[in-house]
Amino acid sequence: MKKRATSFHAAACDPVTAERARADEALRANEERLRSVVQSMAEGLIVRDAQGIITDCNAAAEEIVGLGRDRLRGRRPEDVLTGALDADAQPVSGGRLLGDEALTTGDPQPPLTARLTRPDGTPAWVWISSAPVLDAGGRPEGVVSTMSDVTQSREAEQRLVASELATRALADEQAALRRIATLVASEAPPSAVFEQVTAEVARLLHVPSASVLRYETDLRATVVGSWRDAGLAGLPLGSSLDLAGDSVVTRVYRSGNAERIDDYSGAPGPLAEHLRALGYRSSVAAPVSVGGRLWGVLVASTTESEGMATGSERRLGDFAELVAQALSNADAYDKLAGSRARIVEAGDSERRRLERNLHDGAQQRLVSLALQLRMVEGGLEANPDRARQDLTAAREQLGHALEELRELARGIHPAILTDGGLAPALSALAHRAPLPVEIDDVPDERLPEPVEAAAYYLIAEAITNVAKHAHASHVAVSVLRDNGRVLVSVADDGVGGADPGAGSGLHGLADRVEALHGHLHVDSPPGGGTRLEARIPIG
Ligand SMILES: Nc1ncnc2c1ncn2[C@@H]1O[C@H](COP(=O)(O)OP(=O)(O)O)[C@@H](O)[C@H]1O
Ligand SMILES: [Mg+2]
Repeated sequence: MKKRATSFHAAACDPVTAERARADEALRANEERLRSVVQSMAEGLIVRDAQGIITDCNAAAEEIVGLGRDRLRGRRPEDVLTGALDADAQPVSGGRLLGDEALTTGDPQPPLTARLTRPDGTPAWVWISSAPVLDAGGRPEGVVSTMSDVTQSREAEQRLVASELATRALADEQAALRRIATLVASEAPPSAVFEQVTAEVARLLHVPSASVLRYETDLRATVVGSWRDAGLAGLPLGSSLDLAGDSVVTRVYRSGNAERIDDYSGAPGPLAEHLRALGYRSSVAAPVSVGGRLWGVLVASTTESEGMATGSERRLGDFAELVAQALSNADAYDKLAGSRARIVEAGDSERRRLERNLHDGAQQRLVSLALQLRMVEGGLEANPDRARQDLTAAREQLGHALEELRELARGIHPAILTDGGLAPALSALAHRAPLPVEIDDVPDERLPEPVEAAAYYLIAEAITNVAKHAHASHVAVSVLRDNGRVLVSVADDGVGGADPGAGSGLHGLADRVEALHGHLHVDSPPGGGTRLEARIPIG
């Protein structure tokens, strides 16, 4: 200040010096203005000399690299800057980041984006552009780098990429689930579903191996579906595994929930040992439950050391549900096929019974009746008394044949049921029964014909069973109409122990009731009597 005052004083004396001083003053003021503009710029600025030494920087640059001006000036960039050109690429030198090449070539450097690590450890994504400062002869005498912090936009971009990837992965998973659901809906055999599920799971979870295992009794499981990368050893289809010790399969067996093991190295037991020997390191497994019971397990395993990705359990769970669906479809299909076969068989055996009864009964009687009548015809003149006796016998024979035919017709479909409905048909049944039958309730109104027939045959078979097996003193029958369905029950006070598996009668009744979407329940504790209960929807 003092010096300036002096020169100002001098300038006042000498016009040339004064002119120079004013020019100096103006230049300084200009430089000052420029400096303050540079200082307040949002972009960082680092200036270096011909040797690449940092000579100056602005506040934004200090902020971006995380070092004060006094720590930057006089230093080489490689001593104060560390960074990488990509999130996980090798680090590059500070000189390269600040465009060293401009000093040798004299050319502006293409801008680059780098990830700096500041001295305090915080990362910053920085966009840097460097250009040489040329002297009058066109030779570089320094380099200026401008930089801006692009961390926020870069992170937003990465989030966008990540969410796009996640969306694509989800869409991929949905497509795989749809493919399998279509297969399941087409009633493909479970083995085909296992094959496709394991292949899709391995692809989606990026694992080399996936399998479906079915639990057996005594802590064992059988491999029923399996997919593996070519050349990778694994558990062959059909092999039976001992689940003693620890494995995801064992854990799911015990917990009934999805489980994971991230490191098999310490797990005890033969299966864990086997998996280790095959090179597997970690697995995730989800339970397959059919009709509320644990049936088996879907397992995905990897040989990688990082273990299975988080969320693998949920994804596996979705596929396990489809496996369960395929199994219960197949089960329902088998049951249906079985009951159809039994219905056909029951029809066939009924026809055989009718044929046998006709052959042995009415047909025999009619044949012998024809013979008798011919004899009567031949002996009419010679021995009229004898002929009269024979005629009497023939009339009795005819009566028996008629009775038998009536009996047979009753077995086929009682006319009384068709004409009068359940109430009179059940009274007739009770009347013919060899033990007291009490009819508690029967609806007065008519029910749909198949429902009446099912109720009638159920009661008829039940009463026959009581007479044949129960040693009961009495049977109670009731047919109640309730809320769109019919409840049929037959209860005796006999020995109990009825077993639908032992004969064909009860099984046939269950089929008949189920064919009408109803349900038959047999309650028959030993010594406690037998109660048959059927619920049949009407309409
Ligand atoms: N009311 C009952 N009381 C005791 N045991 C019964 C009764 N009903 C059926 N059972 C037993 O259950 C078995 C199965 O009955 P069912 O299927 O009708 O076959 P079937 O009568 O042809 O033997 C019978 O063999 C019998 O041992
Ligand atoms: Mg029976």
